[in-house]
Amino acid sequence: MSLHILNHPVINHKLTMMRNKKTDNKHFREMLDEIAMLMTYEVTKDLPSRVIPVETPVAATTGYELDVSGIIIVPILRAGLGLERGVTQVIPNAKVGHIGLYRDPQTLKPVEYYWKLPEDKGAEIIVVDPMLATGGSATAAITMLKGKGYRKIRMMCLVAAPEGVEVLQKAHPEVEIYTAALDDHLNEHGYIVPGLGDAGDRIFGTD
Ligand code: PRP
Ligand code: URA
Repeated sequence: MSLHILNHPVINHKLTMMRNKKTDNKHFREMLDEIAMLMTYEVTKDLPSRVIPVETPVAATTGYELDVSGIIIVPILRAGLGLERGVTQVIPNAKVGHIGLYRDPQTLKPVEYYWKLPEDKGAEIIVVDPMLATGGSATAAITMLKGKGYRKIRMMCLVAAPEGVEVLQKAHPEVEIYTAALDDHLNEHGYIVPGLGDAGDRIFGTD
């Protein structure tokens, strides 16, 4: 299965606060941090870990170690930064790469302006962006990653539109998509309905 809709009561509660147009930037960011931390639990649940020896105060036993150096979190700038913070609080030693894309307001097509990633092509990549709307930005980011040789890629967003999920699944069928919510549709400006508005503006206080 490639689409995972988390639909969790705690996440839904916080997401509803984020959707509310009266929620200010401070509380919007705080909710996003908290949801990102909660979602990381689900998004990373099949990541490989190795068995290691450990001595408790009582006995020698074995435990597990996640290969955190083999995980790269890739926020799509700039709204992706809002999710990255929560994910890296849960996996503080993960590496972080950045892809700069903005959606041209007229064509709704993604425009690339920045790329900087750790070199480890075998790493588990978690692309993070709160909004999967037309799917253009996520699809372009993953196409760029594959073009540079990265292979193990998953996508984490907060709110997805059915149109964007379809586009991304068609372009990259093997990529698992995790979203807190699947909304109804896109409006004529490419905004998710009901959505939460412009995620970047609400995180950073621009408009
Ligand atoms: C938003 C969002 C995604 C993109 C989603 O970014 O953060 O990157 O739109 O839309 P899509 O699925 O139709 O491509 P935006 O272009 O507003 O840039 P920003 O993050 O700098 O605000
Ligand atoms: N980008 C956003 O920030 N919000 C949307 O609804 C669609 C794209």
